[in-house]
Amino acid sequence: MKKILGKSKNQISTPALLLDIGIVEQNIVRMADFFKDKPCRLRPHCKTHKLPLLAKKQIEAGAIGITCATIEEAEVMAKSGIKSILIANQLVTSDKIERFVALSKICECIVCIDDLDNAKQISKMAHKTGTIANILIEINCGLNRCGVSQPESALELIKQIVPLEGISFRGLMGYEGGLFTYSEEEKKSECNKRNQSLIAIRDLLEQYGHHCEIVSAGGSNTYYITGLYPKITEIQPGSYVTMDSHNTQSGLDFGQALTVMATVISRPEKNRIVIDVGKKALSCDEGIPKCIQPGLSIFALNEEHGHVRIENPDMKLNVGDKIEIIPSHGCTTIPLYNCYHIINNRIVVSVEEIIARGY
Ligand SMILES: Cc1ncc(COP(=O)(O)O)c(C=O)c1O
Repeated sequence: MKKILGKSKNQISTPALLLDIGIVEQNIVRMADFFKDKPCRLRPHCKTHKLPLLAKKQIEAGAIGITCATIEEAEVMAKSGIKSILIANQLVTSDKIERFVALSKICECIVCIDDLDNAKQISKMAHKTGTIANILIEINCGLNRCGVSQPESALELIKQIVPLEGISFRGLMGYEGGLFTYSEEEKKSECNKRNQSLIAIRDLLEQYGHHCEIVSAGGSNTYYITGLYPKITEIQPGSYVTMDSHNTQSGLDFGQALTVMATVISRPEKNRIVIDVGKKALSCDEGIPKCIQPGLSIFALNEEHGHVRIENPDMKLNVGDKIEIIPSHGCTTIPLYNCYHIINNRIVVSVEEIIARGY
């Protein structure tokens, strides 16, 4: 792999995942700067990049910590020296709770819960090992994934959690969802409706004496709405760092840092090529990815083959040439690769293993 360092990105063996570090750094600084003079803090989600190197850059730029989706991500981030980690998800089996409790001994680690038995399990494990486990109650404020929906249920849950040994209640997590299909006006209105339902629960708990030091929500698509909503204390955007075409299409204008490099392996017809990148190297849960070069459009993906239409049959494009593609969904494309090729000014400057990609 070292042989590729210092070479042009066109010389990388394909399929390859490329990350333009200049654009990544601009994205990191832009998001951090937005929050510099705001009461809300930034805790970026690492489920997108899965790379401690980028998590550290986010913290250097002003983030208070990192959000993770899995215990594996949290372990990788903690091992690399990240001091404050929110697992914005549920850990319900004893092996994962054990690992969470172990992490809580080396850094500030916070996990979400929406179930009393789960809280009791965490409490038991934390108490047994002399640790304090930090928890947020997850609120369903419209995404309809996990989370407590009713204010009275949240109040009931907190009343039963507070007396548990080894648990510290820190607040609420209520990710409102990406709202990608909404127009800007509708997005603002729907997002604020969801934020309002989260804050209504926060206010009720406060009224009963349960201080919500943390109220975490927000993603890349809603950071400028949720991040300004009163009493939301931190936001957790992920995709803005690398970007992808479905975020761009929904109006997010951060720089496109992530691409996939492919090689033309066949030109069976003048207006069609086949590339060596298929579904195993490009996710399509958010639609068909886009080619950077104008006049080329992917129209189908098999496992290891991509089918690309050429608008102009006279276009010069030969077997062995490279084409670059913007993934439609970065978060689901990145874990398909072992490593990123980090690019600066078209040159490969390093190869970074995506170490937090596993389970
Ligand atoms: C819990 C949670 N927080 C934040 C996000 C925001 O992610 P993104 O910024 O990639 O839209 C997501 C997206 O799935 C999420 O599930």
